[in-house]
Formats: sequence, C-alpha cells, structure tokens
Amino acid sequence: MFNKQNSDVIEPESVQNALQKTSPKSNEIKPTDNQLSLNDHEIIVSKTDLAGKIKYVNDTFIKISGYSEVEMMGAQHNVVRHPVMPRAIFHLLWERLSRGKHVFAYLINLSKNGDHYWVMAHICPSFDAEGSVIGYHSSRRKPDMKIVNDIIIPLYKQLSDIEASETSKKAGLEKSIDAFDKIFRAEGVKYNEFILSL
Ligand SMILES: Cc1cc2nc3c(=O)[nH]c(=O)nc-3n(C[C@H](O)[C@H](O)[C@H](O)COP(=O)(O)O)c2cc1C
Repeated sequence: MFNKQNSDVIEPESVQNALQKTSPKSNEIKPTDNQLSLNDHEIIVSKTDLAGKIKYVNDTFIKISGYSEVEMMGAQHNVVRHPVMPRAIFHLLWERLSRGKHVFAYLINLSKNGDHYWVMAHICPSFDAEGSVIGYHSSRRKPDMKIVNDIIIPLYKQLSDIEASETSKKAGLEKSIDAFDKIFRAEGVKYNEFILSL
C-alpha cells in the first residue's frame, strides 16, 4: 500500500529533480571517434518546453543517445550538443524559433558514451489553439553523408574557427553569424531554402 507518510517513498517529482541534478552534461563527455548512424526509416523525435527542456523523446532517440527516458525528461536539449557544432547555428536556430518560424539544420549530436551521429533536423514551434507558441518539437532523419562530408563539415569548421579567432565569445559569434549570413545570401536564398538546396 502506498504510504505518503513514509519517508522512504519518493514522489515522482523528487525523483525527477534528483536526476536532473545528477544527469550528465554534454561538456563533461569526452567525444570518441565512433560514428553511429540512423537507419533510412528511423526518425528521432523530441518535444521541449519554451526554454528547451525536454518533455518527450521517442524510442529511437533513447536508443541512439544512450540516455534513459528518465534521464532525458526535464534535461536541457543541449544534453546532446557536440563540441564541434558552431554556436552560430544554434543562435540562428533559436532566433528563428523565437519568431515562430521552423528551421532545418544539419546537426552532429553526442551520445552519452561520447559517440556521435549526424542528423538532418527539422525543428518547429508548437502552437496552442489560440496560436500562441507553447513549446517546440523536432524530427531528425539520417542525412545525406556526402553533403555532410563535402559541405557541412568544412562549413562548420570554418564557422568554429571564426568563433575561436576572437578573444571575446560575443565578437566571435557575431563574426561567425555574419560569415554564414554572407554565404547563403550570396546564393540569393533564405536560410531554410539554402539548407534544403544543398
Ligand atoms: C525541439 C528542439 C530540438 C533540439 N535538438 C537539438 C539537437 O538535436 N542537438 C543539439 O545540439 N541541439 C538541439 N537543440 C538546441 C539546444 O536546445 C541548444 O540550443 C544547443 O544544443 C546548444 O546548446 P548551448 O546553447 O548550451 O550551447 C534543440 C532545441 C529544440 C527546441
């Protein structure tokens, strides 16, 4: 029988809070050289609140990330952030989401054991019946690895180098955003169109 007076009985919310305090942070994980891959038919799905805290993950995400569902729930989505990702891409992602726009992005994600996997992500605002943004959701598929290897990896290296070239983080980010802006504007297209045209 469930006994609320018993101090050994932990309420689900306390369990969640305890896990959040101990759940690993991506910047404490040492990346390995091992690359994982989604199958052609697999889709990673997640949903977050407005602050990017995870509210839902599907089985494919659990399997490839190496985290349990309990570890993922309530964690910030940057739990899967890989250190080689340029900050400019996430700046652009959040800037678009904050304006109620959807965004496509090639992302390299970090698993719990340091392995990585590339995805083509589609991230969208979730709206309530009145049209207000109440959170975000994302689906990610296996990307074309030729595009990743030939275009995305060199592009992200270029942006990361720009970000590292300035002594101030802010200046590096601004320079990197500017460089990326110039690249897709030179094609005469908007950001999403540029990503989908690669
Ligand atoms: C619905 C949704 C899905 C996201 N998916 C990813 C993802 O797969 N990988 C990732 O690195 N960041 C993802 N992000 C962005 C993270 O919230 C975060 O901005 C990013 O990891 C950079 O972390 P940082 O701002 O702490 O540097 C997602 C955000 C949202 C709202």
